Amino acid sequence: MTTTHAYDALVIGGGGGGLRAAIELSERCRTAVISKLYPTRSHTGAAQGGVCAALGNVEEDSPEWHAFDTVKGGDYLVDQPAALLMTEEAVEAIYQLERWGLPFNRTSDGRIDQRRFGGHTRNHGEAPVRRACYAADRTGHMILQTLYQQCVKRDVRFFNEFYCLDLLRDDAGITVGIVAFELATGELHVFRAKAVVFATGGYGRMFRVTSNAHALTGDGPSVVWRRGIPLEDMEMFQFHPTGLARLGVLLSEAARGEGGIVLNSEGERFMERYAPTIKDLAPRDMVSRAIYQEIKEGRGGGPAGDQVYLDISHLDPKVIEEKLPDITEFARIYLKVEPMEEPVPIQPTAHYAMGGIPTDTDGRVVVGADEDVVPGLYAVGECACVSVHGANRLGTNSLLDLVVFGRRAGDDAARYVREADLATPSERPEQPTLELLDGILGRTTGDNAGEIRKELQDNMFELAFVVRSDESLTKMQQIIASLRDRYERVAITDKGARYNTDLMETVELGYLLDCADALVAGALVRTESRGAHFREDHPLRDDANWLKHTLAYREPDGSIRIEYKAVKMGPYVPMERKY
Ligand code: FUM
Repeated sequence: MTTTHAYDALVIGGGGGGLRAAIELSERCRTAVISKLYPTRSHTGAAQGGVCAALGNVEEDSPEWHAFDTVKGGDYLVDQPAALLMTEEAVEAIYQLERWGLPFNRTSDGRIDQRRFGGHTRNHGEAPVRRACYAADRTGHMILQTLYQQCVKRDVRFFNEFYCLDLLRDDAGITVGIVAFELATGELHVFRAKAVVFATGGYGRMFRVTSNAHALTGDGPSVVWRRGIPLEDMEMFQFHPTGLARLGVLLSEAARGEGGIVLNSEGERFMERYAPTIKDLAPRDMVSRAIYQEIKEGRGGGPAGDQVYLDISHLDPKVIEEKLPDITEFARIYLKVEPMEEPVPIQPTAHYAMGGIPTDTDGRVVVGADEDVVPGLYAVGECACVSVHGANRLGTNSLLDLVVFGRRAGDDAARYVREADLATPSERPEQPTLELLDGILGRTTGDNAGEIRKELQDNMFELAFVVRSDESLTKMQQIIASLRDRYERVAITDKGARYNTDLMETVELGYLLDCADALVAGALVRTESRGAHFREDHPLRDDANWLKHTLAYREPDGSIRIEYKAVKMGPYVPMERKY
């Protein structure tokens, strides 16, 4: 049985970007949030160290310095007008969160306290600056709770544990709704709407070692990709240098912001060699690559020589207890290490997708080099590519991205629904989704989804991680093709309707394969190194040929076509990236 609903606007995803858009929309039109999790369990809650804005509360700062750092940090693949806009709107966005009750840490005179974070500097790189506003090391958690409370206050309608499995567009390409699967009952729901805002998060679960929650399986990017929308800069995936060794659980960069340092197996503070000015507070791509290099040259520790160490044992215990309580507890619980007394084993962990669904600064999904707007379709947050992060996001810019562009997308979608009509979807719009699910449920024997997922994750970690090459990526492409082939024959044992997580995880695996395919295709064509994308066979940045975005299209036969789009430039002329 299929139930049909009608709203003006739908938000797909209950994390920070989705909730911020929903707050804006719900004041002006009938809005529903479709979330595969209970919203307060969304991955925004895992963001730890801070959300940045040039408040200048602790040290002199300016939005323009913040924009410069964002563009340089992103290795000049950032669309500069978007970065300037985000850093300018950041200040009001933070004060709005404060007014909504977010319990930020405070300075002694009662203002929002600010800490250092990688790549954030004063006066165009002179020295690190305190720009990250924070709530201990639970900033994302506090943002999520604050935004959720504001949604509850506005009576936003939530459909929790509903998975969006298809995007509905009419023959003219106008957005007319979505199809969702209700986990509790196994029923399909058609949601008609004038505007749909995707805010489904990233796809880090394609890698074996990741800081990402299990839910981050690329749902939004894959759903729209299957409906003809390209994906932008998918090769740009961030590896955070300080994940707990082997587990990938995040140890916030805030630890280094508070004075923590990274050591190799010889006890050397090796970042002094790689980034003499800002050392351990260099951007993530550089620290992750430095760790890779140390390990490669035999200065890694642990049984396999594949880890280095985060040392905060020299910090004042009061600072650790007050400002880094969660991450120290993670080290104790998961690795049985006492961070107040000894260095914590770490390694780079897959953390954040800089690429995703292409949008303009109003969150509108745009297609092609000329950025044609897809009527009624929006994307925000990690699933989107606006692009303010370019080839390497600066820490704390992701939470900022959510609140700034979540608000802007909600605002524009509310304007759009006032002018648009509620269109009627085609006859039986749920049919393709039914076929997808029946295909999986109908097979009694076949390949095992868990094995395919493990092979994907293991190989992505070996072949498409911090360092890549034509050889490794070509091999990965062949592996994905064979995994896709096996996925076509996948079978599950649970055939039930209620809470069939086996079925949902298998659908999610299909999304992960799509995103991995697009990531590898982009990484293969981009024959240069820029930001997080490091090709050992092309180790230099090549602005003459590659100062451009990739757009990956999925062809009807399943192959991928790559097109390009110009980077929007601004005041910052690309220069060598030194710290
Ligand atoms: O290290 C961290 O706390 C992560 C922050 C971020 O990814 O922005």
